[in-house]
Amino acid sequence: MTSIMVLNGPNLGRLGSREPDIYGSQTLADIEQGLHKALPTDITLDFRQSDDEATLIGWLQEAADSRTPVIFNPAAFTHYSYALRDACQIVAETGTPLIEVHLSNPHARESFRHTSVISGAARGVIAGFGDQSYHLALSHILTLLERH
Ligand code: DQA
Repeated sequence: MTSIMVLNGPNLGRLGSREPDIYGSQTLADIEQGLHKALPTDITLDFRQSDDEATLIGWLQEAADSRTPVIFNPAAFTHYSYALRDACQIVAETGTPLIEVHLSNPHARESFRHTSVISGAARGVIAGFGDQSYHLALSHILTLLERH
């Protein structure tokens, strides 16, 4: 069965109580549930969160090896993790789509958030639409999968 990985970086496990004025009141589990509802029955969602850079790198390498499309919210690592950028590039080199997503619009926030070191290795970036950022990414990946 075809699988799609949804990877979430540091502090996203605190959604719901973390800065709700910026990130909304949904928990990460709520977002996962919403995505499950939007999935065709023949596709599975592999939804994960880690605060640890090395763990995220391992998951990205796993996605590259298994050619599993990735929806990735790198959270604060977005802005400075060259190691995650390189891991995203490993995914990209296999031709596997990886879409960077953000709940908020980092460009409308503090200046340190205006830079993404990840974007250059992503197929595309969707930011600023809350949980809909994940849904839009999912919709694009489903379109790609149907074309195969
Ligand atoms: C975020 C934006 C990042 O700047 C921030 O560090 C996060 C969440 C977002 O989804 O809006 O943790 O990636």
